Parts: sequence; structure tokens; C-alpha cells
Amino acid sequence: MSIVFDDSRKIFRLLTLNSEYQIKIDDIGLLIHNYYGRPACDTDMTYQIISVDRGFSGNLFENRVDRGRSIDVLPQEYSGCGVGDYRISSVGIVAKNGSHSCDLRYKSHRIYEGKEEIEGLPSVRKYDDDVTSLVITLEDKVVGLEVELHYSVFEDKDVITRHTKFINVSDKKIHLEKAASAMLDVQYGCWDEIHFAGRHCMERVMSRNKLTQDIKVISSKRGMSSHHENPFVILCDHGATEAYGECYGMMLMYSGNHKIEIEQDQAGSTRIVAGINEENFSWCLEAAESFDTPEAIMAYTKDGLESLSHIYHNIIRRNVCDRKYMDVKRPILINNWEATYFDFTSEKIIDIAKDASELGIEMLVLDDGWFGKRDDDNSGLGDWFVNEKKLDGGLKRLSDEIEKLGMKFGLWFEPEMVNEDSNLYREHPDWALVDPDRHPTMARNQLVLDMSNKKVEDYLFNCISKILDENNISYIKWDFNRSLSNVYSKNLPNKKQGEVSHRFVLGTYSLLERLLSAYPNLMIEGCSGGGGRFDAGMLYYCPQIWCSDDTDAIERLEIQEGTSFGYPVSAVGSHVSASPNHQTGRSTPLSTRGVVAMAGTFGYELDITKMSAEEKAEIKEQIASYNKYYWLIQKGDYYRLYNEEYAEIYKAWEFVATDKSEALVNIVVKKVQANARIKVIKLRGLEENAMYNLEGTKTTLSGAALMYGGFAINISYGDYPSAQLHFVRV
Ligand code: DGJ
Repeated sequence: MSIVFDDSRKIFRLLTLNSEYQIKIDDIGLLIHNYYGRPACDTDMTYQIISVDRGFSGNLFENRVDRGRSIDVLPQEYSGCGVGDYRISSVGIVAKNGSHSCDLRYKSHRIYEGKEEIEGLPSVRKYDDDVTSLVITLEDKVVGLEVELHYSVFEDKDVITRHTKFINVSDKKIHLEKAASAMLDVQYGCWDEIHFAGRHCMERVMSRNKLTQDIKVISSKRGMSSHHENPFVILCDHGATEAYGECYGMMLMYSGNHKIEIEQDQAGSTRIVAGINEENFSWCLEAAESFDTPEAIMAYTKDGLESLSHIYHNIIRRNVCDRKYMDVKRPILINNWEATYFDFTSEKIIDIAKDASELGIEMLVLDDGWFGKRDDDNSGLGDWFVNEKKLDGGLKRLSDEIEKLGMKFGLWFEPEMVNEDSNLYREHPDWALVDPDRHPTMARNQLVLDMSNKKVEDYLFNCISKILDENNISYIKWDFNRSLSNVYSKNLPNKKQGEVSHRFVLGTYSLLERLLSAYPNLMIEGCSGGGGRFDAGMLYYCPQIWCSDDTDAIERLEIQEGTSFGYPVSAVGSHVSASPNHQTGRSTPLSTRGVVAMAGTFGYELDITKMSAEEKAEIKEQIASYNKYYWLIQKGDYYRLYNEEYAEIYKAWEFVATDKSEALVNIVVKKVQANARIKVIKLRGLEENAMYNLEGTKTTLSGAALMYGGFAINISYGDYPSAQLHFVRV
């Protein structure tokens, strides 16, 4: 049993293999966060809470004579608001009488085997895992609000999931102004926060900062999880490295406006609050109505950042993404975007497919421009009908020809968007999110559809289904190319406009769910101008997401490394593109582009018909090695072989089979130097006493030598050289 309630001490213990999470109900019904860390051997961790009378930290009425007992400093499980905890609140409400206060006290709890799904939202899947769940109900009797804290413990995965449900048990309206999914108070310690920030074409770059008494906010109000701040943070102890140190992870399984706040308070304790961004959010709960927040995925390890990454990789591969993708090899694809942009014909696409199929590429993906009036990015979105003028014979001919080549066919959509210059917009201008009496803010000259409107969802479902029914399509690339603004639904009354941003996300999830239920063999790759919606919410529906619109192999090193902290390689869409690269103009060798793209779901994004015979021969070899290493890359443990001293010079990473029988080391030199120093790569994850042979050579070394001494390599000549070293246990 991974959740234990000790009635005599009033503590809940949530136990995973390597962690313990402890909650206590105190004598006045406050829910105290006792502890999250290494297993505490059945100790009530309340002893760590020391009463100190801190000036200007008030006392709840019941504690008014005990001035050392203030909710402003007590570690809490889920803070209320307006009643004396001046740190970040988990909840914001407006009661019928206008009061903004909410004082949450324990009411009841239940523990059950299994895990309930969250209606309308993706959540971590239980499958056949042993999962135990706990629901603690808190209440504010004055307001008539119940708040259910839901926890599920994935014991052998070292993961605890959380979400919160708000129930209006009064006979009056309650306005929810903030509704966090999870809160974590860490009472002691000297912490760094790590988050993943960026921009279009440079997503999820790791940023590590020492916490001081302050509030750090990681958020998006773009209607999407965004290129700019990913909904994932790490708290690690100040000295933590890849292989050492305490780390906590907090990941939100949500694709819309999010906010993760991290506060170090006056007493040096740290609070993390994660959930929907309250900006532009207000949810009206009528009597008896309830509201579910998105789920948060929490993890703890004492063993450093790589161990935390492994926990997230494991849960995402097995329990967030559809698990069937663990064992189904995904096709190596070629995408025509950077080969043709909007300028293509059926013949051109068939030519690309022919050359690609000869080299072992297994799927052709037809990108933007096949539908409506779409010769550039100013028109056509919303008109999901093939443009037969451009594609002679339509999608049917194309998909049949591609099938004859033994390849699969994939198709690009951007379902949630519409151009003003489209039949859809001319017929249904009210289906776009537009502020009344105001010109909309445009981006890529397009508007966003009102996904909160069921009619819009039905229209999209019908259009996409028709195309899937009439053609042989096994894959969709699902794009999303602008941030939301003017978020106003003509379909909802004024008082519900604060709900639109979240209802938009629910509409998207609902459409994805319907399509995947209707077409269980369909694979959807997520995309949002590259990785603008790279989050666990989308990964629930899409086992892979196009990682970035920046296809430059050297830039991708940063992007893919940052992404790897929270997300597995199996989720990362990565392609070999043309050289010079279209985003940076940089030239890199084909071999290096291959090595970098192999740290993902591999494919090509270039005009293969223009490649020389030598290049084609090299591609054939690349494909053979990707196929050879496929399961090692996709299922193995991923290690960043980080060397701070050489961070600007090279990047190295490694895949190790879970049984430690083989390892693939990858090195890319970013900065070639004359008379350079030897690079020593210290491998990770091997068996110390086993011997490993470097494939293709007579070199055989012990796991210990490779890990502690390291493998020395002199690689420093030419433009961006790279190497792949395959070590096999003998
Ligand atoms: C953005 C995507 O990330 C690209 O790969 C491509 O699909 C374009 N959109 C098409 O408009």
C-alpha cells in the first residue's frame, strides 16, 4: 500500500520506492505539508516545525494565544487566501458577499486503489501499474466551497500526480479567480530553480538560478504552453549536478495559459504553486457545480538531474503518451516543408517520395499548402478541402502513389486556426475569437477559432474525418501557429468570458480525443511553430512533437538538451535538414546533422531529389544506423554528458540500454580549435565490472574505466565534426 493514513498521528504517508510525501492534519484542521524527500522511516516529520513568533505574521483565531503559530510560516499543503498567509495563494475566490477570503480546513478523506480520470482533461494513465490514490476534502464552511486534493502514487515510478477539484456546495455563485493544481512547501534548504525558457526557434533552454527571498514566475498567457516558458520547473539543491543532489520536479500537464510560481519566504522556506494562469481566468461556479484543474506530475530524487530526467522520461513514455508507442517503431519520415514550402505539385511530391523510398524512408508528410486557397500563409486556413488545382488528382492519387511505393502518408493540419480570407471565415465570422468592437490583433495574418464552441469542434471533426475516410492517411501533423489574443467567444455570455481560454484548451483536447477514438491507428504529431506547445498535455495525444522550427543541427543541440530535462527523446521530432540551413545559413556536415536528428524521432526535411549520389548513399547509411539503434535510443536511458568546462566547445550525450548491455555515445564539436585539448567523455550508466568493446575496433574497456576515467577522443578538425561511439558489453 503506497498511501498510509495513521489515524493516531493524523498523518498521510505517500510512499514511492525512493521518496516519501507526508501530510498532517493539525489540531485545528489545517493541512500541514510535513515533508517530501527520502523515505523517513515512519517518522512524523512535524518535529521539524519550530514555532517562532514572527512579527506581522498573524495567527488564526483558534491560535490567537499561540503567537508562534502562524499560517504565514507553517508549511501548508494547499493555501487558502486572504486569511493571513501572505505567501503565494493556491486559490482565489470571490464569494457572493464580495469577500475574497478562503480558509480551508480538513473535512474528510478517502484512499482507493487505482486512479480516476479527470473529465475533459488528459491525465497520467494508470494502465496495469499499481497505483493508489488519495482524495482529501477541504472545506470553507463560510463560503460553502469544498476543495478536493487528488493524489495518485505511482510507487515504482517515483511519481506523485496531483490535481484539485472545486465544488460549490452552497446555494450561491462562487467565482474562482485562481485554481492551482498543486502546491509544494519545502521548509528548509538552499535551492536553485531551473526552468526552460526561450523563443520561437530556440525553445526550452535551461536556465538555473539561485533562489533568494523573492518570487519567480514561470508562465504563459499566450493560450498555449508556449516557446517562451515551458510548464516544467525543477528545484534542486544548490550543489546539485547531473549525478548528485536533491531535486524536485513539478510539471503541469496542460497546453494553455499556465503559471508556476516559486517563492522563497522570510523564513527561508520555498513554495511552489502550479496551475492555470489566473490572468484572464475567472470561472463562475453555480450551486453544485464543480471545476477540475489540470494535473501536475511531481517527482523527487536524491540523485541529481539525470535521475530526475529519467523519472520523467519513464512516466511520459509509459503513462502520459499512449503506451503502444513504446513497442511500435515509428516511421522515418520525410517532410516537404523546407523542400518546397508552398510551391509544390503532385509530381514534385511523388518525386520526393520515390527518391526517399529508395533510401529507406518510410513515410512522406505533406505539409502546409495542400488545401483551400493556400499559396502562402495569408489565406485558406479553415478550408480543409484539397486544392485540386495544385494537387492534380487530389489527395487520393497522392496517397495511393505513395502507398504503391511502400510508404505511409501523413498530412499537415492547423485545425484551430482560420484566415479571414477563407470560405470558413466568410460563412462563420463569429467562429473566430475576436473582441467585439475592436480590430483583432493579427499574427501570421490569421485568427484563432473558438474551440469552446461545439459547432467549431464538430466542423473540424467532420472535415478531418472526411479526409481520413477518403484517403490512406496514417499520420497528422497538428500545427498551431500563433498565440491567442482578443480571447472573446461570441458563443458565451459576458459573464463567462473569463472561462474562454480554458474552454479553448478543453475544446482542443476534446477534438483530439474524438479523432483518436474514431481512428485508433492514427498517429498525431504535435507542432506549434516548432515546439510552442511541447507539454505533457499534448503528449497525451501526440507521442511526438516537432521540437523546433530551428532545424540547424548546432542550435538544436541546445534546444534538444534543454528539452531532455523533462521530456524523453521519443517525444522529440527531429529532422535532418538542408545545408546551408534555412534558419541560420550555417553549413554543417550531413553526418553531424544525422547524429543530432537521431536524438529524436528521426526524419528528413529537405529536397532529396536535389541531393548527389554520394549524399544519398550517406543517407542510406544514416537510416541503417538509426534503424540499428532505434530501440536503444527510444527505450534506453538518456544521459547528458555535461562538462561545464567544455560547454562551449562540444556537446555529448549517451543512450544506455536498460540492461546496460550497450551504450551509444554521441559527440558534436561546436567550436573547432587548432591544437585543441583532448576531449574526455565520462560515460554514465554502465556496469562497472563488465567489459565493453567499442564496436568496429579492438578497444575493450571496463565500464568503470569508461565511467570514471572516461573515453579520450581527439576530434577537432573541419566544420562541426561529430562522432557516434557504440560500446557493446562483451
Ligand atoms: C510551422 C511548422 O513548425 C513548420 O514545420 C511548418 O509546418 C509550418 N508551420 C507550415 O506553415
